[in-house]
Amino acid sequence: MVFSAVRSPVTVRVPAKVNLHLAVGGVRADGFHDLVTVFHAVSLFDEVAVAHSDEPGLEVHGEGVSEVPVDDTNLAWRAVDLLAKHSGRDPAVRVVLRKGIPVAGGMAGGSADAAGTLVALSALWRLDLSRDELSEMAAQLGSDVTFALHGGTALGTGRGERIVPVLSRHPLHWVIALARRGLSTPTVFGELDRLRGAAEPPDRPVEPVLTALAQGDPRALALSLGNDLQAAAVSLAPDLRRTLRAGVNAGALAGIVSGSGPTCAFLCPDAESAVEVAAELAGVGVCRTVRVAHGPVPGARVVDDSPQQ
Ligand code: C5P
Repeated sequence: MVFSAVRSPVTVRVPAKVNLHLAVGGVRADGFHDLVTVFHAVSLFDEVAVAHSDEPGLEVHGEGVSEVPVDDTNLAWRAVDLLAKHSGRDPAVRVVLRKGIPVAGGMAGGSADAAGTLVALSALWRLDLSRDELSEMAAQLGSDVTFALHGGTALGTGRGERIVPVLSRHPLHWVIALARRGLSTPTVFGELDRLRGAAEPPDRPVEPVLTALAQGDPRALALSLGNDLQAAAVSLAPDLRRTLRAGVNAGALAGIVSGSGPTCAFLCPDAESAVEVAAELAGVGVCRTVRVAHGPVPGARVVDDSPQQ
């Protein structure tokens, strides 16, 4: 049993993201790239459960978990360490991750787990932290962790950790194509640097995306989706070209590599067409599996806050 040796867990649900827009600038002195991005939280979720335990540690369940570390290098455990230090608590807790977000998929699953752990542990320890305090800790843990806390649709700048909400008028309907193998985010950024060489980063304006979102027009949005990391992901995993083509052939308005990939996200006109596109894409054999999702959805939220003993 997952929590046999522990008392009432707090469970948090936390979403995956796709980047509707991802403009990657030059490399900074700290090795990160300046970004202008539009994050969009979609309805694929990880669950993070934390509980007091005499056997502290981390366990991970779900598809692809053999690639997920269960030691203190896991971002979720780094969130435990950070919050313990911040609050002066003993990290005698057990963290259980149930993965619904593809591992190494470009959908910020590891960041989601860190954000979920911050929220779950603050509730377990009754820390009463402000959103600002949580956001500050999230930013220390990783570039996408702040967004995973907040969810919705947001403009991200800096290395991705500075976010402001974006007006997004209607739900968007997606088909998500999961790849057979993952891609490492640093490798994809490195490949982009290699492909660019000494060339200046291209100009990719964010305004058309923001306008399409404000209008709630999926067709206008489909025309303005763009991701500078896509060429690098395709260069490392050339099969993605076929996946992207197959989704559009199946009836999607547009397809895009999600973040650093290799997951592909296909924007569909409505919920019904998303189901049809998913069924057709699943039959073509260009990906491991497909999911239907919608966005925007909220960020990390407690779903089971049972009274503590
Ligand atoms: O911040 P995070 O740990 O998610 O970043 C993972 C890796 O992705 C970084 O080590 C870096 O190689 C790359 N990255 C980047 N510029 C960003 C965000 C991530 O180069 N803005």
